[in-house]
Amino acid sequence: MFQRFRRTRLNKNLRSLVRETHVRVDDFIYPLFIRSGENIKTEVASMPGVYQMSIDVAIAECEELKSLGIYSIILFGIPDTKDSIGSDSLCEHGIIASSVRAIKAAHPDMFVVTDLCFCEYTDHGHCGIIDEVHQTVDNDATLEISGEQAVIHAKAGADMIAPSGMMDGIIEVLRDSLDKAGYENLPIMSYSTKFASGYYGPFRDVAESTPSFGDRATYQMDPANRREAIAESVSDAMQGADILMVKPALAYLDLVREIKDATSQPMAVYNVSGEYAMLKHAGNANLIDYDRVVMETMIAFKRAGADIIISYHAKEVAKLLLASSK
Ligand code: PBG
Ligand code: ZN
Repeated sequence: MFQRFRRTRLNKNLRSLVRETHVRVDDFIYPLFIRSGENIKTEVASMPGVYQMSIDVAIAECEELKSLGIYSIILFGIPDTKDSIGSDSLCEHGIIASSVRAIKAAHPDMFVVTDLCFCEYTDHGHCGIIDEVHQTVDNDATLEISGEQAVIHAKAGADMIAPSGMMDGIIEVLRDSLDKAGYENLPIMSYSTKFASGYYGPFRDVAESTPSFGDRATYQMDPANRREAIAESVSDAMQGADILMVKPALAYLDLVREIKDATSQPMAVYNVSGEYAMLKHAGNANLIDYDRVVMETMIAFKRAGADIIISYHAKEVAKLLLASSK
């Protein structure tokens, strides 16, 4: 005897009752790119709908986000000056510290996550201090200044720190630095399994962080490695990460599931710039039903095990969810 699977598909209400996975507006963290100045809102050609903005514009943007039900953001800074160690990110008056202070003052109810890395702040565009001899990022020298950056973010009022540089041992170092500075309750969301990916292309346009030489393959992961991907996240969990992440999302959903099953921390996915750009441009070219494909993609993240979705689509999703609840 065969099972009549279609029985539970024939009625719309019943389909809702038996639906296994749901996307909610509170699953989302929305990325913002902030630079100095006033009244700046510059669209990024490769990512229609995504802007570099000045702090005043970001504050207005938060008002709109809240009206859509989005209360979590992750900040990326574009400094005026870059140097070999990314000094702007280590300064209380740097772009990120200033942004966090201003946004939290205007919107104390906004949950402000900071991306902790050096690539946006260094003149060479790599995610840490360069070891000139080996022409790569010096892991342990970068760890030392990462602790400083974390405390700068914490003092500015960040609600969660998200290290994205893929330095070994960084979670232990950040936890220790934060604890020593009195921030033992500040959570760390680790970009724990982050691949060296072609999908970051448009982000590097908006964050102005393309490496001036080489690539990030000496610190970000090889897309071919499954067991190493699991070990990376497990290691960060053991070092004290509060939330784990897989990045990019779409091409790595097998690992979202495996890491989710291998750990007990909440899981985030970063639905990266190239993934956004693909759908956006395909939608604009009328090649796909954009809204439908966006929601299908978000459901796929949740089904794979993501608890949190960092996405440039967050505002669109919020609007679609509002429309569908009417
Ligand atoms: C910086 C960082 C990157 C992204 C988030 N943090 C880029 C990179 O590693 O080159 C990518 C985000 C995106 O593509 O949307 N370490
Ligand atoms: Zn980086």
